[in-house]
Amino acid sequence: MSRKYLSKCRIIHVAIIALILFGSSSLYSQESTESVDPSVLAAGEKLYKANCTQCHAINEVVIGPSLKNIEERRERTWLFSWIKNSQKVIESGDDYAVALYAAYNKTAMPSYPFTDLEIGSILDYIKVEGSKVPVAEVAAITDGGPSLNQGGSGDNISSAFMYAVLIVFVFVLGLILVVLGLIVSLLTKYISSDKEISEEDKELITSQRVNVFDLLKTNTMLGIIIFAFVSIALKTGIDGLFTVGVQQGYMPTQPIAYSHEIHAGQYEIDCNYCHTGVRKSKSANIPSANICMNCHVSIKTDSKEIQKIYAAIDYDPSTGAYGTNTKPIEWVRVHNLPDLAYFNHAQHVVVGGVECETCHGPIKEMEVVYQYSNLTMGWCINCHRETNVNAKGNDYYNNLVELHEAKNTKTPMKVVDIGGLECSKCHY
Ligand code: HEC
Ligand code: HEC
Ligand code: HEC
Ligand code: HEC
Ligand code: HEC
Ligand code: HEC
Repeated sequence: MSRKYLSKCRIIHVAIIALILFGSSSLYSQESTESVDPSVLAAGEKLYKANCTQCHAINEVVIGPSLKNIEERRERTWLFSWIKNSQKVIESGDDYAVALYAAYNKTAMPSYPFTDLEIGSILDYIKVEGSKVPVAEVAAITDGGPSLNQGGSGDNISSAFMYAVLIVFVFVLGLILVVLGLIVSLLTKYISSDKEISEEDKELITSQRVNVFDLLKTNTMLGIIIFAFVSIALKTGIDGLFTVGVQQGYMPTQPIAYSHEIHAGQYEIDCNYCHTGVRKSKSANIPSANICMNCHVSIKTDSKEIQKIYAAIDYDPSTGAYGTNTKPIEWVRVHNLPDLAYFNHAQHVVVGGVECETCHGPIKEMEVVYQYSNLTMGWCINCHRETNVNAKGNDYYNNLVELHEAKNTKTPMKVVDIGGLECSKCHY
């Protein structure tokens, strides 16, 4: 009879473990999705990821502030007008907006033609994501503007979440072991004080005494522990692989405070005027100081920044004489694909008709250039999957278009269809 009793105990143990594990794993998802309709969340997630992650993360400052608890800082109506047109809010003289703008080095956030409903869904998504992750520092306006994120952003959120879950998991395991140890010793005491049990059975019970280490040795426990470690290792490995060399948001300080916002924005100088290679070659080129001199021979000659140009080409503005002691301006490269990948500007800008801003973001508003897209292989490939080939007025494509239409009349010819996913097109 007492043997049966013991095996019942085992079953109860297992049931307790299962219950606690199940409880801890579903805890997160429950608290967070309860109040919001999942379809709204999905819509919000999509909008957020497509439009906001270049500059924002929920739990850290990227180019813009961390968005955690944003609704505790601002009301929805304010957020609606801000996201629709932040410049308008700043111009209206709103104190908070003006201070925020200044704190972020006057980096203008783009305007979004979203409805209140759409913005609401983004805010819901942000709220839910924010509540998932254990407390992390939220940057207040006052703490000094943007910090740069040189690792991949965005993914950090999900990995922080994964780690949080794993830590809770390990903690709960430890707790279970302690509680089980207590239960077992109590039960053993109880049973051995039971007078109806024969001496023989009593011996059996005390010899079967379960301690924490025995429990650790059971196959289930071993399995669970191995699973936890393998998950951590796998997750770390995969994260590492996907973010190798990803430098989204990279915004190095340049040797001269050259501003695209002034030149390409305010004065509307064409990109080609300086980036002379962009329409005819692989590389866009960074302009030489001679190009700057076309204007700065006479514009702002007494500015300290302009004098750095003069120093580089050994020009003396008082005499107009050029010396021989020249040295190149050491612009810091912002965008940089690894050598194994081949990218051609002319093909995209001229043949493909893709705008600079599609890949480089709102350059005309940037005082300091930053890397807007993540430049991963996935980024190239996604665009090739989605973008139609610009075949109009390009005889080269006539045959290809005919072939494509013979096979598939419904969808227009995408870059994929002309080999945009072939490894050898992008890799030497
Ligand atoms: C090009 C970068 C960029 C993009 C893209 C961007 N933002 Fe911003 N955002 C900023 C910057 C920079 C600020 C800080 C204020 C400023 O400088 O204008 C900011 C501020 C904010 C604020 C106020 C934060 C606070 O602490 O009060 C909210 C809310 C916000 N952004 C939401 C969004 C949402 C939602 C999206 C996507 C639909 C988005 N942003 C896209 C750059 C960006
Ligand atoms: C008056 C000259 C000038 C004009 C006009 C100009 N740029 Fe630039 N651009 C520069 C200089 C100088 C740099 C290097 C310094 C820097 O990164 O700010 C640069 C850097 C860049 C970079 C980053 C290059 C890197 O290191 O990866 C991009 C992208 C870029 N420009 C895009 C544009 C686009 C798009 C336009 C048109 C809307 C434009 N530029 C117009 C002078 C110019
Ligand atoms: C087509 C004419 C033109 C070219 C080319 C040009 N700039 Fe300018 N730049 C201007 C104008 C106009 C201003 C604004 C002057 C003002 O604010 O009064 C300016 C302002 C500047 C300033 C700010 C100066 C200050 O102290 O306010 C810097 C720095 C600068 N340019 C650097 C460069 C560099 C570096 C290049 C070459 C890569 C370059 N510019 C090429 C027209 C030009
Ligand atoms: C399809 C995306 C795409 C478009 C469109 C695009 N660029 Fe780029 N750009 C890139 C990538 C990717 C790099 C990094 C190239 C590398 O490291 O080899 C880059 C690099 C640059 C650089 C750094 C110097 C260089 O050539 O490596 C400049 C400057 C630049 N782009 C300017 C422009 C201008 C100006 C336009 C519009 C006329 C433009 N880009 C359009 C993707 C694009
Ligand atoms: C914004 C969309 C976009 C992005 C991002 C983009 N491409 Fe493209 N790409 C195009 C388009 C459009 C064409 C078609 C041009 C044409 O008609 O030949 C193209 C064509 C190409 C081709 C020639 C394909 C062929 O079959 O002839 C190569 C190679 C290429 N892209 C490489 C890259 C690489 C490498 C990256 C990432 C660093 C990249 N592209 C990112 C839009 C994009
Ligand atoms: C549209 C262009 C494009 C195509 C097509 C493409 N790649 Fe890539 N690939 C890239 C770019 C860009 C990078 C560099 C990404 C980075 O630095 O994160 C890259 C990186 C890689 C890497 C190195 C990853 C790393 O982290 O260092 C490997 C391996 C690779 N590609 C394999 C392939 C294979 C295999 C194929 C064919 C199935 C392929 N690629 C097709 C653009 C492309």
